Formats: sequence, structure tokens, C-alpha cells
Amino acid sequence: MAKNYVIARNLDLYYRKIMNICCIGAGYVGGPTMAMIASKCPDIQVAVVDINQERINAWNSANLPIYEPGLDEIVSEARGKNLFFSTEVDRYILESEIIFISVNTPTKEYGSGLGQAADLRYVESCARRIAEISKSPKIIVEKSTVPVRTAQMVKTILASTSHQFQHQIVSNPEFLAEGTAVKDLLSPDRVLIGGDLTPEGQIAVGKVSSIYENWIKKDRIITTNLWSSELSKLTANAFLAQRISSINAISALCEETEANVDEVAQAIGADSRIGPKFLKSSIGFGGSCFQKDILNLCYLCRYFRLPEVAEYWEQVIRMNEYQKERFVRRILDSMFNTVSGKRIAILGYAFKKDTNDARESPAIGICKRLLEEKAHLAIYDPKVSRQTILNSLGIKEDQANSIDFCKSATEACQDSHCIAILTEWDEFKNIDYEDIYKNMVKPAILFDGRNLLDIEMIRLIGFVAKGIGIS
Ligand code: NAD
Ligand code: UGA
Repeated sequence: MAKNYVIARNLDLYYRKIMNICCIGAGYVGGPTMAMIASKCPDIQVAVVDINQERINAWNSANLPIYEPGLDEIVSEARGKNLFFSTEVDRYILESEIIFISVNTPTKEYGSGLGQAADLRYVESCARRIAEISKSPKIIVEKSTVPVRTAQMVKTILASTSHQFQHQIVSNPEFLAEGTAVKDLLSPDRVLIGGDLTPEGQIAVGKVSSIYENWIKKDRIITTNLWSSELSKLTANAFLAQRISSINAISALCEETEANVDEVAQAIGADSRIGPKFLKSSIGFGGSCFQKDILNLCYLCRYFRLPEVAEYWEQVIRMNEYQKERFVRRILDSMFNTVSGKRIAILGYAFKKDTNDARESPAIGICKRLLEEKAHLAIYDPKVSRQTILNSLGIKEDQANSIDFCKSATEACQDSHCIAILTEWDEFKNIDYEDIYKNMVKPAILFDGRNLLDIEMIRLIGFVAKGIGIS
């Protein structure tokens, strides 16, 4: 009888139009994802809440806290109509039927699991808050990337704190990439939704699915059980990163053998079983997620006593570290083994183009190493702020004597001994390198860490030029 009641009540909820949803966490995922939902679902009131007042202020201003092509437009269209940014976390938890949790899940920096496990304290605190204050049953959606079986922790917290309501947990990991977030959200390869296999769980899955069905065809919406959904997200990132490490491993061999890594990538990518994407050799992958998610996967494997599996995935990270160090080594080798007092122009600091995000950017490790070698850096990035760069390097404003922060690539390159392209911003393709060459110390050296330029043309100008995986 009780079960029938629950089903009837949830069916009622299912067929009623969803009116209020909220997302806890106004970051790189929460902000764009909710803006897209608001723009595609005028019937849904969407609130994005965060404890960071400064971030919320920025979302409510003309200068959004994150740079993403196309994002300004969709935010300004929906903001104030059915999209709201607020620090009133409790209010929107109370008002919402569906609550997305999109808080950060960084690598743990303390205690057990240090340096490997995901730090779930922010997810946990959201779950506790929802359990404590809710006055109606909620559908709680894990949007953050979490270790497999995290939903069990959330369920346990809800069951032990809130005795009144039967909340449902749904896993709906996000697959957007920064720099292409709007495009990815508009037309995703798939949306993944995992839930309990109970009738109530399936109703919750259906309800979350119905949001996306406003603009995404049903055949692109994959539904699974909770655990498959959680694990698929970590696995997808591990596979993507693995492809980059694989091609980067081959780039080292190319440099020794006169093979060209871009030609090898094209040749193997033409095989439909391999495919062309994620085969661009580089100074290594960066970003807030690949490394943390693989570390997390390795931690889980060890936890479940699968050390061979952990070692297999650890190699992807080792190769990435090797690639960054190899890049620095090649710069040193080309500059007579010393960069002390030499000006090196750093073009690009973001972990990839079209974002202002420098989290785990390969530029961080490379710049740190060059500073250790006593180089003078002239850094230019079109979107990453001076403060972000200083914070990422762990340098205080008054200690930044060895760094010039430049307003253009030309300014950075002026009087430099070497140019290092660390991010593939389109504008670096269109610089007048002949002019730049004239104003550099000779021999003028250029290291293209993204294989962005036609290296033969650059050599014709007179540069000693090197790319990745090109001898
Ligand atoms: P982020 O750091 O940009 O944003 C997280 C936000 O959550 C912060 O603004 C923080 O203040 C807020 N927050 C933390 N605890 C809170 C609480 N208790 N109440 C309210 N707000 C709180 O992180 P992000 O890049 O958006 O990533 C979020 C999650 O999504 C992570 O798990 C990440 O792995 C995953 N993810 C990220 C990307 C990406 O491209 N960045 C893509 C897919 C998945
Ligand atoms: C990645 C995944 O692509 C997303 O699907 C996922 O949702 C996200 O992580 C996440 O979970 O955070 P993102 O890190 O934003 O997205 O950007 P990517 O395009 O994947 O690039 C990651 C890094 O790999 C960048 O440093 C990029 O320059 C590098 N990369 C990428 C290469 O070196 N070569 C390539 O061929 C592709």
C-alpha cells in the first residue's frame, strides 16, 4: 500500500511540469550547464547557488567569472527571467524539486588518500545541508565527478539525517570540455543518467531526462544504474587522457627518428577503429580534471585491491610529467644548457585555448622549472589574469621580479632569447614572426609546444625552431 502511494505520488510529480531546480556550485560546470537548461527550458526556474559571494557577484555582472565562447549571450538572455545566481543556498534548496550538486571534488591534500583520493567534503556538506533543511522529497543529482559508490555515501547521510522524506539520488556526470562548453552542452554526444533500479529511482531518472529532452534527442540520453554512471565519467576522462599520453610517448620517438608526430597521428587516426580526435601531441594535458580523475581511479583500484590496474593508469600521468620535463630539457639543450638571466617569452598560460582557466596547466610546471633555472619570463595570455598566474606559481606580487606580465605577444617577444608557445590560442598563428624575429636576441629560438605553426616557415625566417615530435 505504502509503496503504491510512493509510486502514485512520484508519477504525479513526473507528469507535473518541473518548476524549480537549483544547482549548488557556480563554477565552470554549474554556471554554463544551468545557463543552457534555463535557455532551453523557459518553464523551469533555474537557480545557481554558491557560497562564494565574489563569484556570484561576477555571474550577476557584465564580467562573468569564466570565459567561454558564446556563454555571455545565453546568460544575459536568461538571467533575471528564469536564471538566477545567488548565495541563498538554503532558500533554493527548500524551493527546488531537483537539486544538482556541482561542487569541486579536488584531489585530497591531507590525511588518508593524500594526493590520490577525491576530496568529497564539499559534496558531503551539500548532502548534509539538503538532508537537514528539506521540507519535501528531493531528487538530488550528482553533477560533480565523483568516485564510484559516492551515491551510497549521499544516501547514507540522507537516511541518517532526514527521516521524513524519501529523497532520490541520480548520477548525471558532465562531459563538457572548457573552451567548447556551450557547443558541448547544446549538442552533446550523449547525456548519461544513472539511477536506482527501483520504480522511484526510475521515475527520478525519467524526470531528470525530461529536462534534457527539451533540446536533446532521446536516443542521445543513456540511462544506467548509479554505479555504471559514476564509473563511466572517470573512465571517459582516463581514456581521453590515455590517448594524449600515447601520442606524446610516440612524439619522443619521432624526435629521434625524423618521423613527424602530426603525420603519424593523421595516419593512425584515419583508421576508423582509432579515430582522429585527441591525438594532438602537446606539452602534456592540463586542466582541473584529467589528472585528478585518473589519480582517483588509481586510488579506487588500490582500495579494491587491484594494484595492477592502478599501475596501468598511473603510467598515463607519468608520461604526462615526462612530456613536460622533456620540453624544458629541450629548451635548455638549445640554449647552451643555461637560461640564467635570459628572457623567455611565454605565449599562452591557459591549459588550452578559449578559456581563462589555468588549473593544472602544463604552463605552470614549465614556468616553475624555467624560473628555477633563473630565466626571466615575459608572459602573455589573452584571458588568464596576472593574479591567476601568480597564484598558480605560488609567487607573491612583490616577489615577481623575474616575471614581466605583457599585454601582447609582441611585447613579450621583444628582446627575448626564446619564445615558448604553451597554449594554442588562434591569435598566435597570425603574428608577424618576421617582425618579431628582428627584435629578438640571436640566435632566436622558438619552441612550439602545441605544433601550432608551420615550423618550416618559421625556420625559413631564421629561427632555430622546434615543435613537439618533430626533429
Ligand atoms: P569549480 O571549482 O569551478 O566550482 C565549484 C564551485 O562550488 C565553487 O564556486 C565553490 O565555491 C562551490 N562550492 C563548494 N562547496 C560549496 C557548498 N557547500 N555550497 C555552495 N557552493 C559550494 O569547479 P568546476 O570546474 O565547476 O567542477 C565541478 C565538478 O564538475 C567537479 O567535480 C569536476 O570534476 C566536474 N567537471 C568539471 C568540468 C570542467 O570542465 N571544469 C567538466 C566536467 C566535470
Ligand atoms: C576534459 C574532457 O574532454 C571533458 O569531456 C570532461 O568533461 C572534462 O575534461 C572534465 O571532466 O573536466 P577539458 O579538460 O576541459 O575537458 O579539455 P580537453 O579538451 O579535454 O583538454 C584537456 C587537456 O588535454 C588540455 O590541456 C589540452 O590541451 C590537452 N589535449 C587535448 C592535448 O594535448 N591533445 C589533444 O589531442 C586534446
